[in-house]
Amino acid sequence: MKHLINIKDLSMDEINQICARALDFEKGIRKSNHLNGHIVNMFFEPSTRTKISFEMAINKINAHKYDFCASNSSLNKGEDLYDTINNLSAIGINIVVLRHSDNDLISNLANEKYFQDISFVNAGSGTSSHPTQALLDYYTIKKQFLNTQDKIITIVGDIKHSRVAKSNIELLKKAKMKIRCLTSENLMGEKVEGVEYYTDLKSAFEGADIVMALRIQKERLQEHVDINEYIHNFQITKENLPYATFLMHPGPINKDIEIQSEVLKTQNARTILNQAKNGVFVRMAVLDTLLASMGV
Ligand code: CP
Repeated sequence: MKHLINIKDLSMDEINQICARALDFEKGIRKSNHLNGHIVNMFFEPSTRTKISFEMAINKINAHKYDFCASNSSLNKGEDLYDTINNLSAIGINIVVLRHSDNDLISNLANEKYFQDISFVNAGSGTSSHPTQALLDYYTIKKQFLNTQDKIITIVGDIKHSRVAKSNIELLKKAKMKIRCLTSENLMGEKVEGVEYYTDLKSAFEGADIVMALRIQKERLQEHVDINEYIHNFQITKENLPYATFLMHPGPINKDIEIQSEVLKTQNARTILNQAKNGVFVRMAVLDTLLASMGV
């Protein structure tokens, strides 16, 4: 693995290897010392979980971390991102962890012939891809169910604008899980073969092992979404969530929109903070794999 840009670039074997390595880190069986590894976090969109867990992961594998603040960088003096990354590479950076609103920027950078010595890790690209989120979600599901084949997951919410949904669909299809998407017609986006689409909550939740709620991406909405109508049709409540269903949400949560606050106090919701916790081990595994393959 040279970069981590999209889930579709990974085989199921590679996904399982990352999960196994994450589990070794979590159990304390694996320790890594990447004293010559230099990793820069470049976040052009807001983040709490992804940014801090990458920072913690870098610390825990004993690599060096650098925080790139776009507003205080030479981008502000007119330098373009290509020159910026070229210079970071010359300084000795090995890995760029990038979050950006542009769907394609990170794949274009990774294909750029000048950046042979740098690996790119996608920390969220526009509405297209968030591979480490999907990996940590799968890791969380695997820890719960062990055998994930044929387990039913219902993904509910703003599928169209959600990079989390897209990367999860790619990964969970590879893992042979049964995927349902529940949303309104205008938030469905492009339909994916093999995924079942629903507009009725009761049928979509029937028999589901997992319900994964998504954030309404207010900053990306171009279509009109009536929030009261959304709440009426799709909000997860104590009444509509089956007792034993495992509830997930990548965060941040719009409380009392996607999920009723009361539900967040129930046992069903304990998984949500586990997702955040597992993000550290999965990101350790991804960075450790990349740095080991570079020999640093
Ligand atoms: N799940 C996720 O990407 O959260 P942040 O935006 O806080 O990083």
